[in-house]
Amino acid sequence: MPSLAVQQGDITKLKVAAIVNAANRKMLGGGGVDGAIHRAAGPALLEACRRVREVSPGVRCPTGEARMTPGFDLPARHVIHTAGPVWKDGDSGEPELLASCYRSCLALASKRGLPSVAFPAISCGVYGYPPQAASKIAVREIRAHMDRHDAPEEVVLVAFDATMTAILQTAVEEQDPA
Ligand code: APR
Repeated sequence: MPSLAVQQGDITKLKVAAIVNAANRKMLGGGGVDGAIHRAAGPALLEACRRVREVSPGVRCPTGEARMTPGFDLPARHVIHTAGPVWKDGDSGEPELLASCYRSCLALASKRGLPSVAFPAISCGVYGYPPQAASKIAVREIRAHMDRHDAPEEVVLVAFDATMTAILQTAVEEQDPA
């Protein structure tokens, strides 16, 4: 039975098949969850990211797309890197690009038959996306994917603090299929 759950905590500690990294287009690390994942995975992660082909000068993962690497020292076997949109005004394609991040990550997980994936709140930190709107998009895209695919069977939305946890819980309950 497919499950979508919300969990508060540090995504780098989760023993799931893949954790999603809210990275940037360069895929060479950064702050926030990107920095935490690279610290926990060890230097081999950065080396693996450097080996990801550039699709244009300095761009390994265009906004809205996803790339997978091993998890190295992480408890998770894989890291799925995605580059979320930077929030401007909500009318510059941000919703469509954020939705594409979730779809791209889930498509990669499904293609590899991964049983479990954990997402951070993509773009809700440095990139400034309003958490409520972002959470609605996340839940909508995850449920749409799970309705049509067998994998992943388990998806976890990971919040780093209580406020985000409550926002994600509300988004899940509001779109509860039951
Ligand atoms: N576990 C789970 N969630 C976390 C963790 C963690 N260890 N650390 C931070 N977060 C949460 C933040 O609280 C926020 O809700 O992840 C969410 C995404 O925030 P950011 O990491 O700032 O990511 P984003 O807003 O997508 O900005 C991406 O920031 O770090 C750089 O290289 C990254 O340029 C990219 C940009």
